[in-house]
Amino acid sequence: MRKPLVAGNWKMNLTVAESRHLVSEMIPGLQSIEGVDRVICPPFTSLLAVSALLEGTAINLGAQNLYWESAGAFTGEISPLMLSELARFVILGHSERRMYFNETDSTVNKKVQAALAHALTPIVCVGETLEEYEAGLTEEVVSRQIRLGLAGLDLRIGNNHTSPLVIAYEPVWAIGTGRAATPEDVNVIIARVIRAVLFDEFGERISQSTRVLYGGSVNSDNASKFFSEEEIDGALVGGASLKVNEFVKIVQAA
Ligand code: PGA
Repeated sequence: MRKPLVAGNWKMNLTVAESRHLVSEMIPGLQSIEGVDRVICPPFTSLLAVSALLEGTAINLGAQNLYWESAGAFTGEISPLMLSELARFVILGHSERRMYFNETDSTVNKKVQAALAHALTPIVCVGETLEEYEAGLTEEVVSRQIRLGLAGLDLRIGNNHTSPLVIAYEPVWAIGTGRAATPEDVNVIIARVIRAVLFDEFGERISQSTRVLYGGSVNSDNASKFFSEEEIDGALVGGASLKVNEFVKIVQAA
């Protein structure tokens, strides 16, 4: 049994004061839900303030990116060592980072290695663009992103019997567009592509214990349809994670 996980990706939104306000409003609703891993991923500037508010709750903190070196002359970057004091999760390889900040499968790979080395759980994002989707390249793209993004990793099952990483399948054409993929299609891609590649590369236990989330226009109306699919273990939520009631309802659905 894989424990469901719902992560809120706030992207580049909210000042520190706004972050404090939103998280304070969310805590009561999120705290009362059991059996789901809940993760909030604010921008770097809000991590410290949000971590103080989450202390003593069962809600986890995540970052949205990192650089792969631990320290050094890398102006403007944030290291996994720095994050490991604050966060337990980190979103890596999000399509917006691949699109606007030149991230490649190879830089994603370095980041995933660095996260794991610092006991951060990476939420590795994969997914095809609209062009690739229309050209029938989904399987090829997603399988390449996983093979190269996770190349050379020594993945071991933790004490809690779960895989040390999480994968988020986010078709780029579904992100922020209001046009979600269908739960049935997502289920098939996870089973036939994502778990199949994980099986090939890392074996049965990692393939079966890795949580695979869906992301792309998830909201409180469509969430339960995704979660009722066998292979979908939760969601990576963007826009709806900035709204208290929406996000709490999505976690409830999980
Ligand atoms: P969205 O974003 O829920 O706003 O579509 C999802 C994501 O980018 O992770």
